[in-house]
Amino acid sequence: MDLATALRQASRRLEQAGIDAPRLTAEVLLAAVLGRPRAYLYAHPEETLPPDAAARYETMLAQRLAGRPTQYITGQQEFYGRVFRVTPEVLIPRPETEHVVEAALEFAREARTIVDVGCGSGAIAVTLSLETGRLVWGTDISLAALAVAAENVRALGARVELLACDLLAAFASSSLDLVVSNPPYIAETDAPQLPREVREYEPQRALLAGPDGLEIYRRLIAEAHRTLRGGGRLVVELGYGQLAPVRAMLEEGWDEVRVWPDLAGRPRVLAARKREQAP
Ligand SMILES: C[S@@+](CC[C@H](N)C(=O)[O-])C[C@H]1O[C@@H](n2cnc3c(N)ncnc32)[C@H](O)[C@@H]1O
Repeated sequence: MDLATALRQASRRLEQAGIDAPRLTAEVLLAAVLGRPRAYLYAHPEETLPPDAAARYETMLAQRLAGRPTQYITGQQEFYGRVFRVTPEVLIPRPETEHVVEAALEFAREARTIVDVGCGSGAIAVTLSLETGRLVWGTDISLAALAVAAENVRALGARVELLACDLLAAFASSSLDLVVSNPPYIAETDAPQLPREVREYEPQRALLAGPDGLEIYRRLIAEAHRTLRGGGRLVVELGYGQLAPVRAMLEEGWDEVRVWPDLAGRPRVLAARKREQAP
């Protein structure tokens, strides 16, 4: 079978199973099987797919048809123009989290001590380090996630130090300039409504944050206030409908609250400054 036919058949099966972006998925998986960029498939549509590659492609398609996210099948996801390794131990970095990086970069160049809380694959910490040339700390409560982050730090040559700890527990009071986080923010009650790919395959600890989805924000904001120096910044990603409750948590001890929308126009990132003279 040639590549064009393999793609057409795979794309049809994915579409019939209701998988999002069936053609793109078929291409990404076939490119991964061949160890080539997607453009290769367009340049060589008549090339024969060798039997061992066809068997590998079939295995990957079966996984995707069963609901496994494409990124866990190929083991990679692009973030901010770089390829990160991902496994089911880490959240798949989302495009909207690039807005967190953009916002953090406004403060990161002048910051000496930067921490990414809940670093997962290391997407934010590694990107901030590579974009600024600065040392960035990444914390996570999951040792398995930290192992993946360590692979990405090494592979991408970033200056990132990783720490296993609960939020910011390892850091001294008033020691930090910038705290960045894409924390878990999904309400446990909303978990059943999550897409199957997310609900069944991504780590629960990366997603869920108590009955109202705000549990980690409450603890993180208190911990950030303890560990940031006066004038230091907190930058967090926001979930749907969370601007008002998170802003309300910043009424005391914080100022210069700013919000950035995502491409859909929804409030996606919030930054706040710890007051110089905290009450
Ligand atoms: C939404 S994921 C974000 C991962 C990565 N920063 C990204 O944006 O792709 C949240 C991460 O926080 C970690 N986490 C959850 N609770 C934590 C806690 N109490 N302390 C530190 N990390 C925690 C999870 O293990 C997960 O890796």
